[in-house]
Amino acid sequence: MKGLILAGGKGSRLRPITFSMAKQLVPVANKPVIEYGLEAMVAAGIREIGVITGDTGEEVKSGLGDGSRWDARLTFIPQEAPLGLAHAVKTARGFLGESDFLMYLGDNLIKSSLTDLVQEFEEHQPAATILLTPVPNPSDFGVAEMRGDQVVGLEEKPQSPRSNLALVGVYLFTKQIHDTIEQLRPSRRGEFEITDAIQLLINGGHTVRSHIVQGWWKDTGTVEAMLEANRLILEDLDPQQHGALEDSRIEGRVAIGEGSSIKSSTIRGPVVIGQGCLIENAYIGPFTSIDSQTQVVNSEIEYSIVMRECVLSDLTNRIEGSLIGRGVTIKGSVSIPGTLNLVMGDNSSAVIP
Ligand code: G1P
Repeated sequence: MKGLILAGGKGSRLRPITFSMAKQLVPVANKPVIEYGLEAMVAAGIREIGVITGDTGEEVKSGLGDGSRWDARLTFIPQEAPLGLAHAVKTARGFLGESDFLMYLGDNLIKSSLTDLVQEFEEHQPAATILLTPVPNPSDFGVAEMRGDQVVGLEEKPQSPRSNLALVGVYLFTKQIHDTIEQLRPSRRGEFEITDAIQLLINGGHTVRSHIVQGWWKDTGTVEAMLEANRLILEDLDPQQHGALEDSRIEGRVAIGEGSSIKSSTIRGPVVIGQGCLIENAYIGPFTSIDSQTQVVNSEIEYSIVMRECVLSDLTNRIEGSLIGRGVTIKGSVSIPGTLNLVMGDNSSAVIP
């Protein structure tokens, strides 16, 4: 079985972060979100993996390399325009050939392993296996209609959903999907939907199996979802201590990378701190990820993601629920200036106390 990871999306709901970085490379617990899917595929025995890329293709390619880090072989496949998931599969046709394949949306994260799914697929050889999970907002997803444990209908982002079962961004297919993709017309949102292609398999009398996802699933398309994914991954953090501690308290599960120094601070896990960080006279609260070479000095932060090479210093207000890009400096000042001198990108937000 081959793998196909979709990393072409623009990440418009994650602006301004995605003005300068691919959404699939945003770190969750200090690891690019796309790598979780890649590792799950490799753990399930899939080593030939295609990566569909869009505008951010070069960045995704240099971020992942050739796959040898995972003992896998990556083939990067540019999609000329973001015309939908089915169009991405069509673009990868040459790479996929006649193989069965597992498709993983690069901004999705699931906790459960893919190993049993792959084995079960190979044993039963349905035309497709889809993953489903109950959600409170089914209209935001592809939705499945079930009769017993049979999938009888699928609809993409329906206004009146027939169930609360959303399609999770992991699919297994045989080569039959290519024929139904050929028959597709663009949807209301102008895309070639994989949801519609699977519906055509059902219409044609092919077997489509479904699985209810055990454990959590996150589509990390928004800041809130990204922070929530970070929380979920940190829940399972392995504590590690490679840094230097001085007059500090470490509570709960905390991982600290090599070359980091923690001075006169309290760290309340789960928290991950990358390599070469300086945490001084600071409080780092639960569900926070601080990536390498970042400094947090005379400041407090919790439930946040801070990327690499940032400086947070002398802040009088605690930072909470925040997603902070690479190389950001946020400095407080003892005296509040009467004027603000700002350069801020589109869709940025700042709360000035
Ligand atoms: C896509 C699929 C949708 C699925 C979702 C999962 O939606 O079209 O059926 O439920 O991924 O993340 P999109 O992210 O393109 O809005």
